Amino acid sequence: MNESLGKPIDRVDGRAKVTGAATYAAEYQIKNLAYGAPVLSTITKGRVKFIDVDQAKKMPGVIGVMTSENCMMLHSPAGSDPGSGKFAEKDLLPLQNDRVLYGGQYIAVVVAETAEQAEQAAATMKVTYEEQKPMVGFETNFAAAYQPGSGLGGAKTQEKRGDADTAMKMAAVTIDETYKTPVYSHNAMEPHATIAEWNGDKLTVYDATQSVIGVQGLLSTILGVPKENTQVYALYIGGGFGSKGFTWANTLLAPMAAKQFNRPVKIELKRQQVFSAAGRRTQTQQKIGLGAGADGKLQSIKHDTITETSFVDEFVETAGVATSMIYSSPNIEVKHSLVRLNRGTPCPMRAPGEAVGMYALEVAMDELAYKLKMDPVKLRMANHSDMDEQKKKQFSSKYLKDCYQRGADAIGWANRSAEPGTTKQGNLLVGYGVATATYPANRSASSAKATLFADGHAEILCGTQDIGTGTYTVMTQVAADAFGLPVDKVKVKLGDSSYPKGAQSGGSQVSASVGPPIRAAALGVVSKVIKMAIADEGSPLHGKKEEDIIAGNGRIQLKNNPDKGESFADVLRRKGMDKVEAQAKTNVSTRQQQSAPAPDGSPEAKIEAESKTNAAVQADEKTDRKDYVFHSFGAQFAKVLVDPDLGTIRVEKIASVMDIGTVMNLKTATNQIMGGILFGMGMALMEETRYDPNNGRIVTRDLAQYLVPVHADIPEIDVQFIEKPDPYISPIGARGIGEIGVTGMAAAIANAIYNATGKRVRDLPITPDKLI
Ligand code: MOS
Repeated sequence: MNESLGKPIDRVDGRAKVTGAATYAAEYQIKNLAYGAPVLSTITKGRVKFIDVDQAKKMPGVIGVMTSENCMMLHSPAGSDPGSGKFAEKDLLPLQNDRVLYGGQYIAVVVAETAEQAEQAAATMKVTYEEQKPMVGFETNFAAAYQPGSGLGGAKTQEKRGDADTAMKMAAVTIDETYKTPVYSHNAMEPHATIAEWNGDKLTVYDATQSVIGVQGLLSTILGVPKENTQVYALYIGGGFGSKGFTWANTLLAPMAAKQFNRPVKIELKRQQVFSAAGRRTQTQQKIGLGAGADGKLQSIKHDTITETSFVDEFVETAGVATSMIYSSPNIEVKHSLVRLNRGTPCPMRAPGEAVGMYALEVAMDELAYKLKMDPVKLRMANHSDMDEQKKKQFSSKYLKDCYQRGADAIGWANRSAEPGTTKQGNLLVGYGVATATYPANRSASSAKATLFADGHAEILCGTQDIGTGTYTVMTQVAADAFGLPVDKVKVKLGDSSYPKGAQSGGSQVSASVGPPIRAAALGVVSKVIKMAIADEGSPLHGKKEEDIIAGNGRIQLKNNPDKGESFADVLRRKGMDKVEAQAKTNVSTRQQQSAPAPDGSPEAKIEAESKTNAAVQADEKTDRKDYVFHSFGAQFAKVLVDPDLGTIRVEKIASVMDIGTVMNLKTATNQIMGGILFGMGMALMEETRYDPNNGRIVTRDLAQYLVPVHADIPEIDVQFIEKPDPYISPIGARGIGEIGVTGMAAAIANAIYNATGKRVRDLPITPDKLI
């Protein structure tokens, strides 16, 4: 059979994207569409006293102004689970009162006939406020820090084993340093956008979201519309990186305004508005303590993070989340505390926790290597954890040592001088750095529907979405292999809340979550067709055993005699059927969080019932996972060139070797890791969302001031994979790869800069001014 999984096939949606045929949330042509322009607060804390609605209404094209005085009342959402819909600001449903809790908060929406008219009226809107003194500084408010409960996905925020303090005192060599990371903003290419249209009491929403199912659930709860009357589409999404994982006010304000003014309404944020109104990564200060013997073996690890959240929700950046499992050490202490500030609420951003936490820990490991006079790769090898010592469970699979070895070869680690500042290329200082990468391998319950048509093509429906990562493509490969069809005979449809419930595109979980039910649904169809042939006297397979028959090349045929068989089309034609369908749900979670059974009579309950007779689902669900923890690992290396006079940094080469289980598509997988690497490069060298220290408002509100790596910055990047299937995560053996690529990058670059210059900069980003 001609398996397509693993092959570097082109994106199935590539042509639609480059020709403009792919429709993003803001691009739907809706009849009679009106345009909503947000009015955002210009103060950081206080109350709105007066909004001059009358004056705005006199402006050309203005249909009306929605404010807290005239908008509809909303219902508070109960849940805070991103999988089933998480509103980012649970204590600040938009426009429900006159309070202002951060700069750039929605206080009104102007609706007009054109976008320009709405923007003009919003820009000249007269607002008077009653100002109060905000909490604006991070370090200056540490006294108000408190200990939060759990983090995202139930992550523990306080962890301990052994006695870290005593072990630290007895250690031969110690490190005790503080690392700082700034606020980062996601800046997905596509700004947040929503179009909402009511048809009587039925609501249709086109949204830029990482979860159509989540938005459907939230809109239903918050607006009080039954789920079956709430339809959400996100067929194409221009990146999310976590910013579209939680739902923001624009997604509520569009249907609110559409109802109020009895017109379909579009709200499309400007880049400047995204910075305050659609999430960010929190600022952190992390104290790392490391204690090791003279042999380099860690005896104690301490990771104490102070981070910040808003007054409108609680989000914990669990920077220490990987610290208790990444290295072997008998003594560990991980702490997190939080300060509330008058800033827009933070949210997950590509590898929330690990991205900043591994930066601090991995720079500290580099500092320890220098103190020990030990090679940084050897130090990591010496402290390799063979199991998760905190949870006392085995890893489902782990080939991290191979990653270090292959990465070291790829970057030319042998050329690295242990002595900083001693290697030159022309007048530039050369440095090499390494860091470990890790991210959990998440999988959650998901469902899918498969249909085989009499003309020989097949279709998959799944209520997940492709946020730009390649989900359409890899799921086409998964389905094609299960059907035994070439990829061009399979159409995968996503991004529609009426499809069977698929995973949220967050936590790097989509491939591992929706791949198995898509595969199982397709195999379910094949099994039905095989059974039909066996029972059919007109079939060459009549009376054969099901286990002796396989699908391949659009046919079903005997395993050991492929000539004996017939096409799917022939089986269906004799039966007079135009299609065969199957649905499957795999209720599997790598976090031991199986979903509760669906309510009786619901579409989802039908899928669960059918899944009980699906052999692929049954085998998958029976796999014993409770004794394992699921993580991906990698080693990331950087080679940098630093100008000693100017402090300018050029990343010359990156080598990154990942152990992520099965590689489903080498091209999209490489692309995901490259994206993570560039994200990490931005973290390390350029990106920083700055606040005015006096009034707490964001001053870096566009891509001219918030710098991200551009083509000219991009080095040679060598991406490699171990390609060993994970035997426990799923029959496909693939773990997710959306986030791990960022997790070692900032540290690898920071460590390379130290190797080049002998200067240890412990606050990101490492800009030239900090080096000279
Ligand atoms: Mo991701 S930051 O979990 O969307």
